[in-house]
Amino acid sequence: MKTIIEPFRIKSVEPIYFNSREQREIILADAHHNPFLIDARDVLIDLLTDSGTSAMSSHQWAGIMQGDESYAGSPSFYRFERAVKNITGMPFIIPTHQGRAAEKILFSSLGGAGKFFVSNTLFDTTRANIEYSGAEGVDFICEAGRHPSIPAPFKGNLDVEALKSFIEKKGAENIPMCIITVTNNSGGGQPVSMQNIREVKALCVAHGIPLFIDACRFAENAYFIKLREDGYKDKNVLDIAREMFSYADGATMSAKKDAFANIGGFLALTNEQLAQQCRNLLIITEGFPTYGGLAGRDLEAIAIGLEEVLDESYLQYRIRSIEYLTEKLHEAGVPVMRPAGGHAVYLDAKAFLPHIPVSQYPGQALVGALYLEGGIRGVEIGSLMFGKYDAQGQLIPAALELVRLAIPRRVYTQSHIDYVAEVIIEVFQHRDQIKGLHITEEAPMLRHFTVKLKPVVA
Ligand code: F0G
Repeated sequence: MKTIIEPFRIKSVEPIYFNSREQREIILADAHHNPFLIDARDVLIDLLTDSGTSAMSSHQWAGIMQGDESYAGSPSFYRFERAVKNITGMPFIIPTHQGRAAEKILFSSLGGAGKFFVSNTLFDTTRANIEYSGAEGVDFICEAGRHPSIPAPFKGNLDVEALKSFIEKKGAENIPMCIITVTNNSGGGQPVSMQNIREVKALCVAHGIPLFIDACRFAENAYFIKLREDGYKDKNVLDIAREMFSYADGATMSAKKDAFANIGGFLALTNEQLAQQCRNLLIITEGFPTYGGLAGRDLEAIAIGLEEVLDESYLQYRIRSIEYLTEKLHEAGVPVMRPAGGHAVYLDAKAFLPHIPVSQYPGQALVGALYLEGGIRGVEIGSLMFGKYDAQGQLIPAALELVRLAIPRRVYTQSHIDYVAEVIIEVFQHRDQIKGLHITEEAPMLRHFTVKLKPVVA
């Protein structure tokens, strides 16, 4: 087997900026140990997110020039609509400026106090939009998904039995929707199997609960199904994606992921009445239904991106580059979630820094150490992001303490990835010197974006 190479060549380059460890120490302290507060110019390899950070293709840039900016009925909208329908098979397509705008509209229509939205794992903005409506979001991740170091092919699967007992306990009438997140971002970018989607669908149908897909990384999920699930080896990824969507009553998507767009999203629906309700909200929040929150040129970029992402040489390279980094780290003894997910490498911070208690946010401490060592920016996905407080103000920790290193699509080359591995291994060798953190300032919701922290003084 020959090396799997980047299936593109580079036409336009963007400089990255180097700084010294001494400079990074000052920058990290000034940013209160929060990577979201570091200027991008001060980051060498930016793995904060794979969202909106893709390199667009020459075709997408050409599409940008062809964007039609008519307020109503733009041909760019129809092109976008065709591309989304072609994959989802859903008749009502509503463009939004990003994924969370689609979520806000959907949950404003269907949420409310006393309701439960169930999922394999809700992403943080999804959960926040559900909670903002007064409803509650509840996750049912399968057993394998709870153990970062134990390999399993579909660790993003929803625990159907657990969901079944929850429905029986709470009553289907209080559950407006089940949402399957593909791939499961907050659970390690792990895929969901077609079998699991089918089983969840059957349970939902039996109780009259609509099934939605959070489709941000649908192509990566479809490719994992092709690689790992019996009966899909010879199917093309578009057909696999179509089958995934065929079980759903609706989907939300952030086009900033698997559509290679720098902005955008959509809501795809099968229910006309709900679509009408959502469009009414769209008009007062995003814009007229043929542009949503987007420019015509963005709609063009998304339409083209949705076609490009299903190219199997791209998906092979994409999934392989994440796996390559994961394997390198694993071989060096670094605790990393296995098998590799679709868009990111997840370090297990609890195992990496066993000397730091969960109440001192080991994930955030590791994020800081990676920045200091090599100018790499990652993000904590653990108790800082998902922790809650009990009535006594004690931290209720998240299930896992992870650090996500999300790989932007088509942006970094193999030598960047090799450098990242070297930095992480270096940090791992000196892990006992890393200190925990305590919070000095925090917001009531989505606190990780603005939180300020300080190292714990022993
Ligand atoms: N759902 C999932 C699974 C996501 O990963 C995201 C965004 C969203 C919804 C919201 O989409 O950002 O366009 O509003 N995830 C980004 C990330 C921010 O870094 O993982 P958005």
